[in-house]
Amino acid sequence: MKYVIKHYPKYILLFAILSLVLAVITVSDALVLQFIINNVKDSSKIPYYVIVISVMVFILLEGFAYYFQQFNSEYLAKKAVNLYRGIVFRRITAQRISIFDNHTPSKYVSLMTAQMDNLDENYFAAIFWAFYLIIQFIVACVIALAVNPTMAIIAIILSIPNLLLPLIFRKVLENTKIKTIKQTDLYIAKISDYLFGFADWKINGGSKLIDTQEKIENTRVLQFQKSELKAQNLSTAFNHAFSNVLYLGTWLIGAFFILNKQMTMASVVAFSQLVINISFPIYSCADMFSQIVGGKKLFEKIETEIPVNSNELQNNLQLDTFKKISFRDVTFKNDQKKILDSLNLDILANQKYVIKGPSGSGKTTFLKILTKQILNYKGLITFNELDITNIADQTLYSKIGYLPQHGHIFETTLANNLSLYQNKTNKDLIEVLKFVELNKWANEDSLSKQISSESISGGEAKRIELARLLLQNKEILILDEFSSGLDKDTLRKVEDRIFSLPHQTVLYVTHVYSNELINKADQIIQF
Ligand SMILES: Nc1ncnc2c1ncn2[C@@H]1O[C@H](COP(=O)(O)OP(=O)(O)OP(=O)(O)O)[C@@H](O)[C@H]1O
Ligand SMILES: [Mg+2]
Repeated sequence: MKYVIKHYPKYILLFAILSLVLAVITVSDALVLQFIINNVKDSSKIPYYVIVISVMVFILLEGFAYYFQQFNSEYLAKKAVNLYRGIVFRRITAQRISIFDNHTPSKYVSLMTAQMDNLDENYFAAIFWAFYLIIQFIVACVIALAVNPTMAIIAIILSIPNLLLPLIFRKVLENTKIKTIKQTDLYIAKISDYLFGFADWKINGGSKLIDTQEKIENTRVLQFQKSELKAQNLSTAFNHAFSNVLYLGTWLIGAFFILNKQMTMASVVAFSQLVINISFPIYSCADMFSQIVGGKKLFEKIETEIPVNSNELQNNLQLDTFKKISFRDVTFKNDQKKILDSLNLDILANQKYVIKGPSGSGKTTFLKILTKQILNYKGLITFNELDITNIADQTLYSKIGYLPQHGHIFETTLANNLSLYQNKTNKDLIEVLKFVELNKWANEDSLSKQISSESISGGEAKRIELARLLLQNKEILILDEFSSGLDKDTLRKVEDRIFSLPHQTVLYVTHVYSNELINKADQIIQF
């Protein structure tokens, strides 16, 4: 909430004023009732048509106030979520790759969509609504105290059980909510995963399995929602009963005063209407409270899952021209086995390395460790004699261009895919397209064409990804399986150019190596 108050103070002030106006008008219902009853008793006081017109004006006023207050509060909730969504997205993008990779992208997608909508309804909108209800409660209590202090105090005492309800139900409401959120998360993650592999299971006979899996996860979501609803409605039922105690209790006490000639019928009617305005906020607040409690849990969950990136080094260490990277006794193991075992090697400037080895031998892992995508290795890695753990990720990345084994084509123009939205001239883009043998797209028309991973071939995608990193003009080029999907002829031409780059160090992982390629390399690293 502090973000919202800081960013939208004017909106918050407007909302507070509108809430006060609406509360006063709503609570004045009671006075209107009293006005009608008092004046119909004695028809000579005010003509009937004046009463009707006055009431109509009042209804109109209330309508306007309601519209403006509601619109403002809901819009403010949307603005709050919009702001928070942006903040979370920037926190995600500021993460280090090693931390980002702990979640699947679908988890982040669920967080940015379903969970943000949940936050809108259950947290921000609920807080603004609760704020209004508190104002209405206070205004109603003040007017009730002014009209009849004894009755008002009795009414406030009768509302105490209802006020205590949220405290009693708090824990169970929190727990059930968080379980539903977790299950929904899991459901979204699984569904995205299934849909990403659509063709794989569609063709390879997994349809039935997918449908059954969806059913299982969906049923689980429903089960958790059922528990949550049970807790919510139990709290609401108590709430309802206690509200009735307050409302009917007021009538019974009012009847007592009428019998003793201490109150008129009109003032009891007005008072019971005032009590409705006192009990309605309490009644709704219990519900609001359960939403806010659940929403707050969700908010805390997002905050802990996507913390502000405080792990990244904040030093201004600058790197000199690349001379040498050294691996000293680098060991990396996952749960089951050692993937790298006491690796020792040097990578020298302007040398071209071919890295080969069987599938699963640790080539990609080696590159990920070198690019600080994996941090939990043992041993020492230095860049120009500096331990890479002491070099900020972005500083290291200013030296390295990286083509991942499974890269990504963005759903935008070819030009944006190449430049990644940086300022590059068409001339540069065309030149690099020619370098990677994409001559057919080396023209301005093609640059502005929309592409996606579905609309281009695997080999074309690889070449666009290569062109993308060449444009950055880095000193070290790391290419993980560039060769996959490329025909021999094209591959040979592009490899020739890569291995003839005069000023760059190349680490070239491939399964497709000919004698020709081995001859081009300065060194071979065997995994
Ligand atoms: N995130 C991970 N968690 C656990 N194990 C992993 C992870 N990534 C890779 N591995 C394991 O590490 C080993 C090395 O994988 P890596 O991807 O480095 O091999 P590779 O030599 O690049 O293989 P390929 O030639 O098939 O690309 C494999 O046995 C793999 O199962
Ligand atoms: Mg690999």
